[in-house]
Amino acid sequence: MKKGDLYFPGKEFKKRAWLKDKSIYKKAEKNPVKFWEELAKELKWSKKWTEVFSHKPPYFEWFKNGKINITENALDENLKKRGEKPALIWEPELTEEKAKILTYKELSKEVNKFANALKKLGVKKGNRVGIYLPMIPEVIIAMLACARIGAVHTLVFSAFSPAALKIRLQDTEAKILITADGYYRRGKVINLKENADAGIEETKVEKVIVVKRAKNEIFWEERRDIWWDEVIENQPDFCQPEIMDSEDLLFILYTSGSTGKPKGCEHTCGGYAVQAKFTGKWIFDWKEDDIFWSMADIGWITGHTYNCYSPLLNGVTFLIFEGAPDWPTPHRWAEIIEKYGVTVFYTAPTAIRMFEKYNGKISESYKFETLRLLGSVGEPFDEAAWQWYFEKIGKKRCPIVDTWWQTETGGILITSLPGIGPFKPSFTGLAFPGVKVDILDDRGKSVRAGKEGNLVLLPPFAPGLFRGIYKNPQKYLETYWTQYGEKIYFTSDAALHDKNGLIRIVGRVDDVIKVAGHRITTGELESAISLHEDITECAVIGKKDEIKGEVPVAFIVSKKTKKPVEQIKKEVIEEIRKEIGPIALPKEVYLVEDLPKTRSGKIMRRILKRLFTGEDLGDLSTLSNPQSVEEVKKVIGL
Ligand code: WTA
Repeated sequence: MKKGDLYFPGKEFKKRAWLKDKSIYKKAEKNPVKFWEELAKELKWSKKWTEVFSHKPPYFEWFKNGKINITENALDENLKKRGEKPALIWEPELTEEKAKILTYKELSKEVNKFANALKKLGVKKGNRVGIYLPMIPEVIIAMLACARIGAVHTLVFSAFSPAALKIRLQDTEAKILITADGYYRRGKVINLKENADAGIEETKVEKVIVVKRAKNEIFWEERRDIWWDEVIENQPDFCQPEIMDSEDLLFILYTSGSTGKPKGCEHTCGGYAVQAKFTGKWIFDWKEDDIFWSMADIGWITGHTYNCYSPLLNGVTFLIFEGAPDWPTPHRWAEIIEKYGVTVFYTAPTAIRMFEKYNGKISESYKFETLRLLGSVGEPFDEAAWQWYFEKIGKKRCPIVDTWWQTETGGILITSLPGIGPFKPSFTGLAFPGVKVDILDDRGKSVRAGKEGNLVLLPPFAPGLFRGIYKNPQKYLETYWTQYGEKIYFTSDAALHDKNGLIRIVGRVDDVIKVAGHRITTGELESAISLHEDITECAVIGKKDEIKGEVPVAFIVSKKTKKPVEQIKKEVIEEIRKEIGPIALPKEVYLVEDLPKTRSGKIMRRILKRLFTGEDLGDLSTLSNPQSVEEVKKVIGL
């Protein structure tokens, strides 16, 4: 239903929705701590908390002294009501290969067996376990098995390079790594084990558990490597869940830092479980008969929360897909929706723009009759892409929830609720009930409607907000709790709100860029490039891209190189592939004589950025080398 520039859920949708009355916002606002406490009571705890929210800025805790195991809620609780119901549907990349469906009972059995196997290998509560797996059922099983025994999982995105894997394994000091021989990507076998072998060098990894997936030839170290199938052999079907304190670590997930070193975001058991359960239930409006497909990779936070924990905590059937959504044909994603009768579909604006560009017409031939709700995440959702998604995929019938959140927040915090609305293209919506946000100017005053400012979270934040950066309290304090003091969480996103309070996310104010929804910092790209011995200086900026939202562009200075320009550019790209992986490759690399700098020697990335946007460059006379701007302009063809 459209009213002005706002959309509202249709009657049919509203009728069935969990939440249809906006009074929920008021109710939650009155006492957010109590609100979350009521929700927490719907989970199974081994022991109730003694305090709901405690705050010692910049630290805080939820459900203090409560005891819980998330897998008891995600698995055992479902066995009673829906043991035979499919929990997980796995669609392999190869179309000739058979899909796998695991019921709640089957998934639970696999998790318990693998949990026992990990125990037998000596894994104990609190130990960190590395998981470097593609989108196969074992990745979900491995995560849950860790959670079952209280081990802390650290997933590393399977397309990350060995160097990126190594730095995470070193930081967590994991002794076990779970990986696979290989996996399929666009019809090719990727030798993941080879990357894992390189990534564990100079780490404390003692055992590598290998899933046989692609049956490719791999190197095998007898004393270290073990097949997944062998470790689970003869393991009992039940493993007693470890009783976890609400504030014990559940997982560490790394996100880009401003240098080459990523930040390990610490997520805890109790608060995360409560937030994961209810954000999924209310935002995706899951019912018993829904089939949910989130396209995110498990290696990112969206994968953790909405491709694993949240659907399971709600007893929902969800789908994971091994491959690329446009392979072997550009409409593979559409076929998957139809094949399984997906009802709720969650993806990123980049994917939507790609669907539109490569198969705008094709999607008209799909009816998508089963779809009832669409979601988006990860990057600003422009109005054109929103309209296309609404009309061509949702057939003007499905509400769209544009969800804002971060690796740090653990779950969605801003969105329109599907049974309430309103939905406004390019706006994400309101803070989730029980969550307080504000948009502040540099002096800490709330901005008026239409004016940009910094998006912040106010106490009591949200139960799933991360608790710290692993081994780096200083960075935690500096990055999130200094701009407005220790009681206000700084998101690093600029935002504005309209007269109805609906929030639009403008984009990052730090050096993070979102490339096809993937989060990387220009700083970490620069660190990687600087490792090349011929590069004396470099600067990376994000440039607007029609499909990917943003793409990195690198400027390099190489005073001494004797190599041809094309070769040095190639080597720079290789350096990034080696240090980070293929997702972060710059779209262009420019070799320049000099980079614009202030008199104190700081590189003016803002000027480089503006050269592409056509904005006014500002006062160049403060630069120590204003002539460099002219040269850069020539090199980029302006
Ligand atoms: C951006 C992803 C606009 C934002 C879950 C945030 C968004 C960063 C949206 C976190 C959205 C996320 N609209 N921008 N709906 N959702 N972002 O950690 O800049 O990979 O700070 O978590 O993505 O990225 P991350």
